[in-house]
Amino acid sequence: MSIELVWAQDRVGAIGKAGAIPWRVPEDMKRFKELTGAGAVIMGRKTWESLPAAFRPLPGRRNIVITRSADFVADGADVADGLDAALAIAGHAAAVIGGGEIYTLAMDRATHLRVTEIDVLVDGADAFAPEVNSDQWLVESEGEWLYSSTGTLYRFVDYVRR
Ligand SMILES: NC(=O)c1ccc[n+]([C@@H]2O[C@H](COP(=O)([O-])OP(=O)(O)OC[C@H]3O[C@@H](n4cnc5c(N)ncnc54)[C@H](OP(=O)(O)O)[C@@H]3O)[C@@H](O)[C@H]2O)c1
Repeated sequence: MSIELVWAQDRVGAIGKAGAIPWRVPEDMKRFKELTGAGAVIMGRKTWESLPAAFRPLPGRRNIVITRSADFVADGADVADGLDAALAIAGHAAAVIGGGEIYTLAMDRATHLRVTEIDVLVDGADAFAPEVNSDQWLVESEGEWLYSSTGTLYRFVDYVRR
């Protein structure tokens, strides 16, 4: 099964602050749509709740929300009580789209990492990407640093499991 973890991080691995993504890089959102546009997306309950109402569920994709709450209802999404259940719903391929707790949970199962490096340092971040250990992950492609239309530098780095 193909399991891609898709995240954007700052220089030290921060991915979130106070329930939101603390930068604006539209080019990353575009790539996110390209990478996740058609298949199943798996996310933690907090990430689900962080999505703007207009994008919840993420359109055109099977949305799967992981929670420990047996009675949690996510309109337009499937609810799973753990990663195994979420992967079973997803079928042959899944993109894990956050947040920090769920990336960490899925890291051992991931086949590919699609990371966007954002050249900022977020003060007061409270959600973080897992460490990418070079013993386990091979850089598949490393994009050049580019300027976003918002002026922020970013680049895409893809990894495949060794
Ligand atoms: N930069 C990026 O690429 C990116 C992407 C996505 C999200 N984010 C950011 O990340 C932050 C959210 O991340 P987070 O780590 O706080 O939360 P999260 O991973 O989105 O969700 C955590 C929740 O998942 C459920 N959960 C975790 N482990 C579980 C397990 N083993 N079994 C069953 N359920 C489990 C729990 O839900 P219950 O409490 O309901 O039981 C837990 O509270 C936000 O700031 C968001 O904006 C950033």
